[in-house]
Amino acid sequence: MDRIKIIGGSKLIGSIPISGAKNAALPLMIASLLTEGTLTLKNIPHLADITLLSRILGELGANITIDGRDVPSINNETSGVTMHISVPKISNFFAKYDLVSRMRAGFWVIGPLLARMGRAKVSLPGGCAIGTRPVDLHLKALQKLGADIKLEDGYVIATAPNGLKGTKIKFSKVSVGATHNILMAATLAKGQTIIENAAKEPEVVDLVKCLRAMGSKIEGEGTSIINIEGVSQLNSAEHEVLPDRIEAGTYAMAVAMTGGSLTLTNVNSDNLQYPLHVMKAMGVQCLDQENSLHITQNDNKLKPIDIVTNPYPGFPTDLQAQIMAMMTQADGLSRIRETIFENRFMHVQELARLGANITLDGDMAIIRGVTKLKGAQVMATDLRASVSLVIAALAAKGETIVNRVYHLDRGFEDIEKKLSSCGAVIERLTD
Ligand code: UD1
Repeated sequence: MDRIKIIGGSKLIGSIPISGAKNAALPLMIASLLTEGTLTLKNIPHLADITLLSRILGELGANITIDGRDVPSINNETSGVTMHISVPKISNFFAKYDLVSRMRAGFWVIGPLLARMGRAKVSLPGGCAIGTRPVDLHLKALQKLGADIKLEDGYVIATAPNGLKGTKIKFSKVSVGATHNILMAATLAKGQTIIENAAKEPEVVDLVKCLRAMGSKIEGEGTSIINIEGVSQLNSAEHEVLPDRIEAGTYAMAVAMTGGSLTLTNVNSDNLQYPLHVMKAMGVQCLDQENSLHITQNDNKLKPIDIVTNPYPGFPTDLQAQIMAMMTQADGLSRIRETIFENRFMHVQELARLGANITLDGDMAIIRGVTKLKGAQVMATDLRASVSLVIAALAAKGETIVNRVYHLDRGFEDIEKKLSSCGAVIERLTD
């Protein structure tokens, strides 16, 4: 199993291109199930989750090529590829446990399958172990759209022989995945669907832009009420995946920890306003220019701060582990309240191996800084947790080995290459 070795202590200086957003690319790829035409997606990052979803879609009947090449032949060096997905016919309604159990987003094929074919059998999902992560909101909403839902042997069996019918859906909780799923399902439902308490995340907005290019009629994306007028079919379209705000935020926090100066290119900083506001309040220089972001951290001490994770435009839970690592270098006591996932503090004990002083009190983490971090053996527990260990290790004295890096490969394209080009001493060890 691959590991990553980091020798900490070097400042980060240079420029890092930000990849297309994983969390946008995944639902966009799934949207291809809604049309017999071809969906062309530009700026797709090369990540393990993208490859896994390609396999799930392939089993449902999708033909996928990358700039003319088949998926398995993607060169590891390639970044920001163009993917063409066509599903002229859905050949299978069955999304298997062994694939869907490995990623949360795989479950979202259920909405498009039902909308296009009136039936679906999809394994209950997997993904990062950061909480119970139920799918009740998805299922209740699909039932409201007229689907009959049964749970059998770990599978959701959904049927809607007469098609889905538009309705009003009010989510009891903001869910990114349920918003994606129901949005896609409603594009082909009969009549109007109104989603209340919808997620406002930029990735939802990106999906709507693509669905609109495919011919759907949607209004209100980016607000809590989305209106969808069902159409009888969707068509071929081309769309470019938006930049990954979590990747950009992660590198910004890395340089805030190590000191130095990074220019992040291909960034949409509008989507990062809250994290940037927090970083500025901690004393980091953040300058956003068109499509790029300049982050500078001199020798001044970081200031402590309290934050609460919240749905967009609040502080993203996907940057919580990284800001926690950064808070270990702040001069005083910082607090984080995690409100999205109940079990998203698995990185705390691993950061502690590097010397962090963090205590947990229910949904609150209390971080006491400044601690002098020191390299150690640590274990990646989930996607964002693993990258928090990487950025902490960059600021730690001596050698850190991060084990179980397959989590990182799910979400951070070329991380060693990007960081080492800016002066980090980081390498992958393959056994
Ligand atoms: C997506 C992101 C993930 C991010 C999360 C929150 C992708 C591939 N993943 O995950 O990186 O951390 O949004 O921003 O885009 N919930 C229910 N019932 C449901 C669905 C969700 O109770 O049916 C709960 C979840 O357990 C969680 C909260 O709602 O507590 C938010 O989850 P949700 O927004 O659905 O996260 P995902 O879409 O899985």
